[in-house]
Amino acid sequence: MTLKVAVLTGAGISAESGVPTFRGQGGLWKSFRPEELATPEAFRKDPAIVWEWYLWRRSLIAKAEPNEGHLGLVELESMLGDNFLLITQNVDGLHQKAGSKRLVELHGNIWKVRCLSCGAVYEDRRVQSKELPPRCKECGGLIRPDVVWFGEPLPIEALEKAVSWASSCSIFVSVGTSALVYPAAELPYIAKRSGAKVVEINPEETPVSEIGDVIIREPASKGIRKLLRML
Ligand code: APR
Repeated sequence: MTLKVAVLTGAGISAESGVPTFRGQGGLWKSFRPEELATPEAFRKDPAIVWEWYLWRRSLIAKAEPNEGHLGLVELESMLGDNFLLITQNVDGLHQKAGSKRLVELHGNIWKVRCLSCGAVYEDRRVQSKELPPRCKECGGLIRPDVVWFGEPLPIEALEKAVSWASSCSIFVSVGTSALVYPAAELPYIAKRSGAKVVEINPEETPVSEIGDVIIREPASKGIRKLLRML
């Protein structure tokens, strides 16, 4: 039987690169929780503070290098080729920086912006801005990070591909995600129902632990190495 592997990653895989996770230690910024900042309502009320948070996150990500976890997944991709898909909730771009090619981004990318006036989407790599909130380079309208906020739909193509892989893979690996944010959190259950073996790599227990066939209670860097040895 050919192995077909889908891997779902969350903020935990980038924690060892110095990018704070959203929940748990280091997730707070100026006493705000992500749920209070990453919403369309928060942006409507105070776009400057939301942008300040994103610029702070960008400045941490800009300094970050992919770690052994990201690199291990590049190895897995080169082992499995077309039988591998990386599904990430991360917006930091560290998987691409590591060299991953076969991936879908479920929650967008922090290095892109979208104009709320003219709809332009373009790359924007600044980590600070005199003007807060920053404005569209095309029309001067209000721009927002091109990421998915709470209550917003996920990019449909990415989601459909993720669901299709969860339904058809033989092994589904959940790495470094609290598995609390839907619809991404549904993917391990879809995989399990479809007959896949579910693997979890996380130092902490999560809802996926209950349905996991293999649980690796390690940080992503060590855990993915272990997984590579097991396959
Ligand atoms: N290796 C693996 N997992 C780790 C590590 C590590 N070194 N360090 C922490 N973790 C785990 C934590 O135990 C936790 O389960 O990573 C998980 C991080 O959870 P969250 O902060 O909730 O991140 P994530 O699951 O990616 O959040 C989902 O929520 O805020 C939104 O859109 C945002 O994509 C994000 C989504």
